[in-house]
Amino acid sequence: MSASREVIERHKKYMFPAVTPYFGDDAIVVSHAKDQYVWDIEGNQYLDFFGGVLTVSVGHCNDEVNQRIIEQLNKAQHTSTLYVNEIMVRLAEKVASITPGRLQKCYFTNSGTEADETAVLAARMYTGNQDIIALRHAYSGRSMTAMSISGHGTWRLGSVVDPHVRHVRSPYLYRAPKGIHNEDDLLDFLVEDFEEVLATTTNGKIAAFIAETIQGVGGFIVPPKDYFKRILPIVKAAGGVFICDEVQAGWGRTGKKWNGIEHWGVEPDIMTFAKGMANGVPIGCTIATPEIAEAVKGMTFSTFGGNPVTMAAALATIAYIEDHNLLENADVQGTAFRQHLDEFKSEFNFIGDVRGMGLMQAMEIVVPGTDKKPDAARATAILNAARKHGLLIGKGGLYGNIVRMSPHLNVSAEDMEAGCQLLAKALAEVG
Ligand SMILES: Cc1ncc(COP(=O)(O)O)c(C=O)c1O
Repeated sequence: MSASREVIERHKKYMFPAVTPYFGDDAIVVSHAKDQYVWDIEGNQYLDFFGGVLTVSVGHCNDEVNQRIIEQLNKAQHTSTLYVNEIMVRLAEKVASITPGRLQKCYFTNSGTEADETAVLAARMYTGNQDIIALRHAYSGRSMTAMSISGHGTWRLGSVVDPHVRHVRSPYLYRAPKGIHNEDDLLDFLVEDFEEVLATTTNGKIAAFIAETIQGVGGFIVPPKDYFKRILPIVKAAGGVFICDEVQAGWGRTGKKWNGIEHWGVEPDIMTFAKGMANGVPIGCTIATPEIAEAVKGMTFSTFGGNPVTMAAALATIAYIEDHNLLENADVQGTAFRQHLDEFKSEFNFIGDVRGMGLMQAMEIVVPGTDKKPDAARATAILNAARKHGLLIGKGGLYGNIVRMSPHLNVSAEDMEAGCQLLAKALAEVG
């Protein structure tokens, strides 16, 4: 039995079966990782174009980030929110300075799930309303509220208990209803659908509309340019606030801007972050306008929220992005990446759609000659072939047929080229 197989067998014996790694019985057992590379315990090296789901944003074990983590680890490792640590305040100041509009007050937690939970709680306490409008194809995490918001049957385990979450249609142009072929028609349809859901499933008053800027787990679904501008007035008229989930699209991932939503020219009332914010150290962050934050009356506490080591990791990640001009790099390398993917689309007829922004790019895999029939088997085959050639990429989408890729924000031109060559080989093999 290989060393990997032995660990996988123990994983199966002692972990919940619902914890399902990529590649199943042939899962990658990671030994170590540095910058753009990951090594498994068999000694295989991989170029990482996924970052553990858009989380390693500036390279594995980044020297500058880790140096700051180690310094803080040796200085003060834990406080809980019962004590003030200055580094938490510094991160809150920084987040307030680079988020749009009047967003000013932060609450730190440990995950995207908790960040979204906090946002929903704040919206409900601020508005006095309960109903939440979410999107089909959304993903919000694994608490009861977050699973209730998630618009993927596969991620709604057990009985979903929050009866106040309603789902409207996703701004998913590639899979829009029959007869809708362009963004303008889609927008008209989405506005109508939103108004109908409001009129038929709520009393007309809502707490919030929660949406990812780009639907991540859904398969990097990019809403039309005017989507939020068309929807938000309806949300406001119903008394609701806009919760923008930037767990995947945040921290420079979309190129040029810190926050994905800035590309849509609207100002959220609440934003949530996690994943790439601290380069892999567990973090969740909810930022709200002062009046929304102040509406969360009473006491609340998080043992690990605002942990000083986590705060140091996030500040160091942000500093690294600034010092190395990575918002620009994400745009430049994202454009180069997209050119390759568009070429692949003309070459391989099983690529139905290519979409994304910056260093968040996806290919939707379909059965050629059909009406966009999802081809999950071929998407899995692409992941397997890429792995064989030493490239890590991801998968997603309701039907499991979307190949998702998110190279680190500091990916070099050479690595971008090398990754695309490996991807080309993988695509040719499954063609
Ligand atoms: C958009 C979005 N929101 C929330 C979450 C939940 O984050 P976490 O897994 O850190 O709880 C995820 C996780 O993938 C996500 O993609």
